[in-house]
Amino acid sequence: MAAKSYEAGVRKYYGDRLTNISGDTTSEEIRHVYDNWASEYDKNVVDAARCVCHKPLAESLDGALKDNFPEKAKDDLKIIDVGAGTGLIGIELQKLGYSNLQALDISPEMLKEAKKRNIYKRFFCVALSDQQIPEIQTGEFDALICAGSLLAGHIRAAAFEEMVRMVKHGGIICFNVRDGQLDDYREKIQELERTARWEVISKNAVSFFETEEMPRETYAFLFRVLGK
Ligand SMILES: C[S@@+](CC[C@H](N)C(=O)[O-])C[C@H]1O[C@@H](n2cnc3c(N)ncnc32)[C@H](O)[C@@H]1O
Repeated sequence: MAAKSYEAGVRKYYGDRLTNISGDTTSEEIRHVYDNWASEYDKNVVDAARCVCHKPLAESLDGALKDNFPEKAKDDLKIIDVGAGTGLIGIELQKLGYSNLQALDISPEMLKEAKKRNIYKRFFCVALSDQQIPEIQTGEFDALICAGSLLAGHIRAAAFEEMVRMVKHGGIICFNVRDGQLDDYREKIQELERTARWEVISKNAVSFFETEEMPRETYAFLFRVLGK
């Protein structure tokens, strides 16, 4: 979908909340945007714009975890949801039987909404970047999932370094990026492949939004972490 049309859809459903977000947007600015949006987020994104990517993304991770850790019970698999927002991914992972879930987000108000759902065991209110988060140990998680948060002004490509650090050798990273945004992430994705830090498992188009003005599909990526 052309960028112009995407922007019109975003304005229609989200108002002017995201219209001034760009690569130059600071962490403080993005936190402010989501803090102010938190109480209305699900209404705008799920009910109005009909964003439906959470289920297929959770199912993609579920499939990879079954293949990768066939001997491990779902309750034992420790998963971090980064850019977790109000917890829409947590809902889908819980439906699939996962309970050892933790959430990371820059916005305290978004995490407040997620807490109300009683799904996640631990919360990290921090900006994900290439900087190490001291509270998270290297290789602490079996898997990481990141939905709808790899876009301009949000979680930048350099943060893949920290995502890889958090996940154990052989663990899974699942995220989505829409077509118009892929250029910002491609180089870092390829660098981590070239340097054998992760290997691609799959890249599939999955349903994204069910309204005409918004992109119908997004790319779901699955990677296996190889080394630190
Ligand atoms: C579009 S929302 C997606 C939320 C949720 N994953 C979903 O699918 O509904 C983007 C989220 O990323 C968070 N975010 C943006 N930049 C971030 C950063 N650098 N580190 C952590 N979270 C960030 C925002 O606060 C917001 O909750």
